[in-house]
Amino acid sequence: MKVFLFLLFLLSTYSYAQSSGHDHKEKSQGDHHHGMHDNDHHGGMMHGGHKLDPTTLKQFFEPLPASIIDENKHAALIGLGKKLYLDPRLSINDKISCSSCHQLDNFGVDSQPTSPGHEGKRGGRNSPTTLNAALHIAQFWDGRAKNVEEQALGPILNPIEMGMPSEAAVIEKLKKIDEYKAMFAEAFKGEQDPIQYKNIGVAIGAFERTLLTPSRFDDFLKGDEKALNDTEKKGLQKFIQMGCVTCHNGVAIGGNSFKKIGMVEPYDTKDLGRYEITGLETDKKVFKVPSLRNIAKTGPYFHDGSVATLDEAIREMAEHQLGRKVGPGFVDDVKAFLGSLTGKGKE
Ligand code: HEC
Ligand code: HEC
Repeated sequence: MKVFLFLLFLLSTYSYAQSSGHDHKEKSQGDHHHGMHDNDHHGGMMHGGHKLDPTTLKQFFEPLPASIIDENKHAALIGLGKKLYLDPRLSINDKISCSSCHQLDNFGVDSQPTSPGHEGKRGGRNSPTTLNAALHIAQFWDGRAKNVEEQALGPILNPIEMGMPSEAAVIEKLKKIDEYKAMFAEAFKGEQDPIQYKNIGVAIGAFERTLLTPSRFDDFLKGDEKALNDTEKKGLQKFIQMGCVTCHNGVAIGGNSFKKIGMVEPYDTKDLGRYEITGLETDKKVFKVPSLRNIAKTGPYFHDGSVATLDEAIREMAEHQLGRKVGPGFVDDVKAFLGSLTGKGKE
């Protein structure tokens, strides 16, 4: 029996290698049904079988850097950014701050499918986490802001988010607050008129650049083999082998490319994603591939917040992006691996 299982394992590794090149998509498309036995009948054989050697890991992932902003040099700017991030006075009725939808004590999210703004109205998209967001190639689900500095200026004037009527109205409000006069002057030393709309973005962005969450997976990537348990390692192997890693890779395990939702099996959504920005036919239903850091804590999932659990998100991804039906063995192991991406000390 053992020998048979081992042969089966070798065979499926081989068949994966055969189909993992450019033709992977096409191959799995007409091949839905073998997904099940391919991934769930290995039992314990998987682990230790597929190599998680440093060369393989380096090919796909990169540990989180210690920091991406000099926190000593920019202490005043970061302090100002944090204050602005938490301040509901940036909204028309003094009730909504960035942290209402991106709660710092709740993994940078509000745990709702879509978020209520200053009048309780909701937009059509789920609030992504601000944690590690500064690492992404661009901001928003459709990438319409180029970085966190530019992004931060959007929600303040967004009529259904913080609802301020104009840049001038925001500046007028802040100029009446003595504390801000002092803080902007300190953060933007040498500038004649430091309370400017663009500087709000610079400060909030600087603060967001400090929101990195090193995880056990980073320790593992840096060579601490004990940082992940056996189930998590098995999940990582499956994540690589199944092809999740073709989109979710790099330092944020995602956040570095744009891909269509429904690459293989069409996904039902009215949101056209990047198409609304670029107008390109090929950008229909294309979204930024989300980072999977802290993913166990940032549900509900997908741009529309329509998926309540991580189990379901994993199943839907396998089906829509890779054309594979996966069983509970795959889901449990991959979920265990994804749990190792939660910031240390917050698991
Ligand atoms: C009413 C809820 C709400 C408020 C208030 C809000 N946001 Fe957001 N935020 C969202 C939603 C929803 C999105 C996704 C919108 C989209 O992609 O079109 C988003 C996207 C983002 C992103 C992009 C993250 C990524 O992975 O692409 C960042 C960063 C961010 N917000 C920071 C902020 C900051 C800073 C503030 C305060 C100035 C703020 N948000 C205020 C709901 C909110
Ligand atoms: C072809 C690229 C691609 C592949 C392959 C892929 N994903 Fe995704 N993934 C995406 C995109 C794009 C989204 C955002 C979809 C949306 O919200 O419309 C996403 C979203 C997710 C989410 C939800 C993230 C969030 O913040 O809501 C999870 C979890 C996820 N993927 C896990 C996986 C797993 C596990 C696999 C392998 C079974 C996988 N993905 C394979 C591109 C991919």
